[in-house]
Formats: sequence, structure tokens, C-alpha cells
Amino acid sequence: MRVKKVTKAVFPVAGQGTRFLPATKSIPKEIMTLVDRPLIQYAIDEARAAGIKEFIFVTSRGKSALEDYFDHSPELESTLKRQGKTELLEVLRDTNMDSGAIAYVRQNRPMGLGHAVWCARRLIGNEPFAVLLPDDVIASDKACLQQMIEAYSQTGGNMVAAMEVPPEKASSYGVLDIGEDMGSIVQAKGMVEKPKPEDAPSNLAVIGRYILTPEVLTNLNRMKQGAGGEIQLTDAIAEEIKTNNNVYGFRFRGQRYDCGSKAGFLQATVAFGLERPDLRDEFSTYLIDMMAQQKAAQ
Ligand code: G1P
Repeated sequence: MRVKKVTKAVFPVAGQGTRFLPATKSIPKEIMTLVDRPLIQYAIDEARAAGIKEFIFVTSRGKSALEDYFDHSPELESTLKRQGKTELLEVLRDTNMDSGAIAYVRQNRPMGLGHAVWCARRLIGNEPFAVLLPDDVIASDKACLQQMIEAYSQTGGNMVAAMEVPPEKASSYGVLDIGEDMGSIVQAKGMVEKPKPEDAPSNLAVIGRYILTPEVLTNLNRMKQGAGGEIQLTDAIAEEIKTNNNVYGFRFRGQRYDCGSKAGFLQATVAFGLERPDLRDEFSTYLIDMMAQQKAAQ
């Protein structure tokens, strides 16, 4: 199937991050670090690996640290150069975004994820686009979004990342009603945002990666309130099931960390720390000792 190339990605980063107060009193949640890289960097790296060229951030008040983070830092770079710290210089340069590749648009009131994506409509225009929720960090050999783009080249339409969760957790997610199940790709015959446990159509939950058609933006124009009184992205996608029957779930290969929760953030910190060659030995020895001490104390 010939599909239009996905080159634009939206990063909704307007949330207040209240679950991480007091830290988020003065820093955006997306700047909090897993080891030494801000959460947002993981999403950017994943998007770049999937061929994304234009990065659209939906921000809000108090998020200016994010804009600074993606800017060049000439003073710091020349200090590192002078000191011959070439490795660090590379690390730093990797985080710079090309002029014009990055755009910021403000969501001036917290009205939900659907509304945040809608705020980017003029920058998206009339083409398919990706959405990445930086709270969901996905460790995988091949970038999750790249896996999706490959699957999307077979299906076209709209695609959401999906993962089986314990049934009692389904009500924290968007949940798919499964039509034809083709293994890694699932045709959705329904989709519901944060259903009551007894109403969940399955335990196949939507994870924060989407490839969407511009029709979803048109659906968002209607500003229909959904779960929690918010304008939900899930509802706008679900409408596409009714009108065009072109929504697919994609069971990605990889480990997802819910960095919107403290427990998930800590798990990701440990996992990414153990992945790092410069930290692995010392850190794993520490963890093993600590577990032994905990066990002994019980
Ligand atoms: C959002 C979406 C939800 C999705 C989840 C994945 O919810 O609305 O459909 O399952 O992200 O992380 P949030 O976690 O922002 O409440």
C-alpha cells in the first residue's frame, strides 16, 4: 500500500506534572532525568530514529526550560572544546535541534489530550502525523515508532501502540475493542477512554504512540467532552472506526515504562542505569547488596 510519509510528530507537553510535585513546581516534568537524559530526549530520539523531521511541542505556561534545552549552547560548547572534552561535546551536540525543525504552540487551558493535539492542527496541515507521549518511555531494539511506521505502510489509516495490561489496570488507559486479530496488528472495532472495569472491551491498552490521519483533527474540531470532562484523543480516533473503519492497534516489541508514575519512573531509572556500560558494574553490585540487606532485615 502507498501511504504518505510521516515526517511530523506532536509532543504534548503541556501537563502540569502534579504527580511529581514539588519537583515540578519549577521544572517541567519532561526535563526530569532518567540517568542523565531528560525524559523528552528519549521521545525525541525515538522520533528521529523513525525518520521524523518536524517536531511540534504543545506547551503551556512554565515550560520555557524545554525550549532552552533544545537550543544550542555556544558558551558551554566552547568551554568543552577548550577543555578537550570531545565526548561530552558530542553528547551535547546530539541534543541540538536544527533551526526550523522544532516548533512550539501553546495550549492555554488544560482541556485534555485531544485538545492539546488539536492546538497543533495548523502546523500539521493535511497529512498523517505521529503523536508521542513522553511519559511513556519505550526501550526496544528498533524504535517503537519505527516499528509502527513499518506496520502502517501495510495498513494505512490510524495506528495506536497497544499492549496487554492486567485487566484490573485497563481503566487507566484507552482500551481497544478487538476486531480482527492479526497478531502484531489488530483491527479495532471500538476504542474507549478509561472505561469502568466492567465496561472494558478487552485488556489491550493504548500506549502513548500514535500515527493519525488529518481526519482525526477534523473530529477534534467538534470539541466533544469525554472521560473526565476532557476532550479525549481516544474519542476522536474512535470516530474514525465508525466513519472509515481504519483504526489499528499495534503490539510493539519492547519494554514500556510508565514514567508518568513515580514507581514507573524509578523502574525506568534502574533499567536504564543497568543498560549503561559506564554504570552497570557499580550499580548492579549496589542493587544486589541492597536487596540482600533488605532480605536480611525482614
Ligand atoms: C493517555 C491517553 C490514554 C492512553 C495513555 C497511555 O492517558 O488518554 O488513552 O492509554 O495516555 O499512556 P493519560 O495517561 O495521559 O491519562
